[in-house]
Amino acid sequence: MSKTLRLSILGAGTVGGGVLALLRENADLLQAQTGKSFEVRHVLVRDLQKPRAAITDPKRLTADPQRAIFDPKVNVVLELMGGLEPARTLIRDALQAGKHVITANKLVMAVSGDELIRLAHRQGVRLLYEASVAGSLPILNALQGALAGNRISRVVGIVNSTTNFILREMERAVDSDAPAESAYDAALRKAQENGYAEADPSSDVEGYDAQYKTAILARLAFLQYVPLESIYREGITHLSGRDLLWAQRLHMGLKLLSISERLPDGRLCARVHPTLIPRECPLYVVRGAFSGVWLQGNGFQEMSMHGFGAGARATASAVIGDLIEIARHPKPLKMEDPSLRAGETAPIESLTMRYFLRLVAPDEDALRTLREPLQQLGAEFQPSESVAQGIEQVALTPPLNEGEFQTRIAPLRTETTLQVIRLL
Ligand SMILES: NC(=O)c1ccc[n+]([C@@H]2O[C@H](COP(=O)([O-])OP(=O)(O)OC[C@H]3O[C@@H](n4cnc5c(N)ncnc54)[C@H](OP(=O)(O)O)[C@@H]3O)[C@@H](O)[C@H]2O)c1
Repeated sequence: MSKTLRLSILGAGTVGGGVLALLRENADLLQAQTGKSFEVRHVLVRDLQKPRAAITDPKRLTADPQRAIFDPKVNVVLELMGGLEPARTLIRDALQAGKHVITANKLVMAVSGDELIRLAHRQGVRLLYEASVAGSLPILNALQGALAGNRISRVVGIVNSTTNFILREMERAVDSDAPAESAYDAALRKAQENGYAEADPSSDVEGYDAQYKTAILARLAFLQYVPLESIYREGITHLSGRDLLWAQRLHMGLKLLSISERLPDGRLCARVHPTLIPRECPLYVVRGAFSGVWLQGNGFQEMSMHGFGAGARATASAVIGDLIEIARHPKPLKMEDPSLRAGETAPIESLTMRYFLRLVAPDEDALRTLREPLQQLGAEFQPSESVAQGIEQVALTPPLNEGEFQTRIAPLRTETTLQVIRLL
């Protein structure tokens, strides 16, 4: 590889802008780290007229993907556009043209990662995607490098910082005695005002974003193909300020977690759902617009990391880490040949866990009707109290099989009468 790496950057939005800024600011450092210099030849955008603080040389801007991908001088294509198409096709074209590719795109890597990783390997080029999961945290690198000699048993992550921000705001509202019932809507509005949530927040708040990241994490942690549809997904839209209040009273934290684990029978179970965690859990302290990952493996035992999971500069840090890796090691590593085990996955119904239950009924008689079948499951109740809609009572269950538990509570479950949150 020559002394200069020539780059095409697809996208100059939040992440693309951050990468351009950091490339400029740290040019001397990158040279010292790799012995190479980096030249941005093309920056692909949709709108050539839009003012862009990160662009110092407007001649580099193009709206023509062919020009950005097929320039024979370009060695590395950085896909920082987002969305499934045309991003996936452009990544495929770049790999086929013999370019290394870096992407921050979890959707593409979750849906088509296996195909693209194989293609990169066949082409003898690198495809790196550290920024696609947990922003600045080097978790994918750790799984493929320093931790690769461990049998990983469990990966637990706060991988969506938007929902973590919303949950933190709901917690604050509880502290400030704001009306708990409207805490979710107020927190979502604040996340949108602060640029943490998009106008259509469904990918974050419905758990899709975390599901994509879980597919990527689980594949690298367990070397097993994990189809997206095998990953259970539940978002945070049904949570109320009352759930956050009770989490505090029970000395727990409430987080949207990504959990992947190898079960004793060898199957892999991956899931995304709101989860109550004890204060001793390393992820308890990961609050606000941050991400965190907590891993268990048979050598290192356990480890956690947390930091900025999104944002221009934090995400650019991961992208530039990938760029340095390509500058140092342009040949694909053996690990990128995905001889993935075709292992079995287990549905969430196979798991055994404890549950938090919050019952709301108009009066004591109705509450008793809800409570009795749950007491038969061993649920232990806190004293009831009056709330705007009537009477509320909370319980924790002993460990129960998810499948059997869901069948037993189905007749009691309506949106207003029964809230169920899993415990870690
Ligand atoms: N934002 C974060 O904190 C973060 C964190 C981790 C990972 N990521 C991932 O990074 C990627 C980029 O996210 P972002 O937040 O930077 O997005 P963004 O701010 O919306 O920027 C997207 C950029 O791509 C360009 N673009 C989009 N579609 C295009 C098309 N069809 N043709 C040409 N240009 C196109 C846009 O051009 P115009 O400017 O002309 O519209 C814009 O410059 C996504 O995969 C995202 O999931 C983001």
